[in-house]
Amino acid sequence: MGRSLNILGCGRVGRALGSLFVRHSIFSRVTVCNRTPESSRRAAAFVPKAKAVDSIAEMPPCDAWMIASADSAVQEAAQLLVAQQSLVEGNLVFHVSGAQSSEVLEPLRARGARLGSLHPVRSIASPELVVTSFTGTACAIEGDESARAELRTMVEAIGGKPFEVDSRAKMICHAGHVFASNYLVTVVDVARRLYEEAGIPVEVAETMLPPIVRGTVENVCALGTTEALTGPVVRGDASLVERQLSALSEVNPEIASLYRELVRHATVIAERRGHLPEEAVEALRRIQAGQGA
Ligand SMILES: NC(=O)c1ccc[n+]([C@@H]2O[C@H](COP(=O)([O-])OP(=O)(O)OC[C@H]3O[C@@H](n4cnc5c(N)ncnc54)[C@H](OP(=O)(O)O)[C@@H]3O)[C@@H](O)[C@H]2O)c1
Repeated sequence: MGRSLNILGCGRVGRALGSLFVRHSIFSRVTVCNRTPESSRRAAAFVPKAKAVDSIAEMPPCDAWMIASADSAVQEAAQLLVAQQSLVEGNLVFHVSGAQSSEVLEPLRARGARLGSLHPVRSIASPELVVTSFTGTACAIEGDESARAELRTMVEAIGGKPFEVDSRAKMICHAGHVFASNYLVTVVDVARRLYEEAGIPVEVAETMLPPIVRGTVENVCALGTTEALTGPVVRGDASLVERQLSALSEVNPEIASLYRELVRHATVIAERRGHLPEEAVEALRRIQAGQGA
């Protein structure tokens, strides 16, 4: 018969992981339940060997439950699940949220469930793309010992790279992902707004951004952040930093304040690289503190 998986909330991540688990023979039967029947049917059409049901009460007994609904709905899903007959002792129940730990599933422990979380560390916009390019994706795992062991085996089987994260550190680890992905995009958007402010035509800005962003990301990946940083801070050019900050304050004080904060963190990198004279570091610190070079 093979092992079976129930997916509560089968959106982008649910579709991607569900498909990978079936393709790699971890599970041979899948049942999905979303908020609306239409959405459940669309998800079941995507995941091989999957069928859709209209409510959690219709989900059959299974070996594992994956809760892949939005972060805010994980707790509610756990509360609904605790009342289901189909949940049986020894079931693995895991969610895929990066920010929450498996503690949110705690009510299910009294029903004999093994609790964990499996967070694929990548931006999943298209499940189609992820299914064909999952190999090497880091996956954070935490939870009960036996849940962790099973999740590790599952991740390895689909080509992922499992690593364990402490339940209490999950939120901070996720904040790192938010900076590496979401705020990277945000900072690039700030650059786009400054080009606009400088009167650069949109079509020119669109040709400028890809090479500078791609080149920077490639440098970070190839050299690491300490060696990849270029620009006035790492050159110790405090006078340029001060003039740039003053120009920015005139056109957009909010962006100037972001620039000032980033000078602080770029100075940390410059110090780590260890080639700047102490006076340059001091001047950058004074500018950062609003005291001028
Ligand atoms: N996308 C990413 O880059 C990414 C990466 C790693 C981890 N994650 C985590 O993965 C989880 C899901 O994210 P996603 O991007 O896959 O979201 P998504 O595409 O919006 O999918 C969420 C799914 O959950 C369903 N859902 C929401 N509330 C529900 C409820 N109360 N009961 C049943 N189903 C419910 C939705 O159903 P309907 O379609 O009917 O609305 C939808 O199918 C989140 O915890 C997120 O943090 C996301």
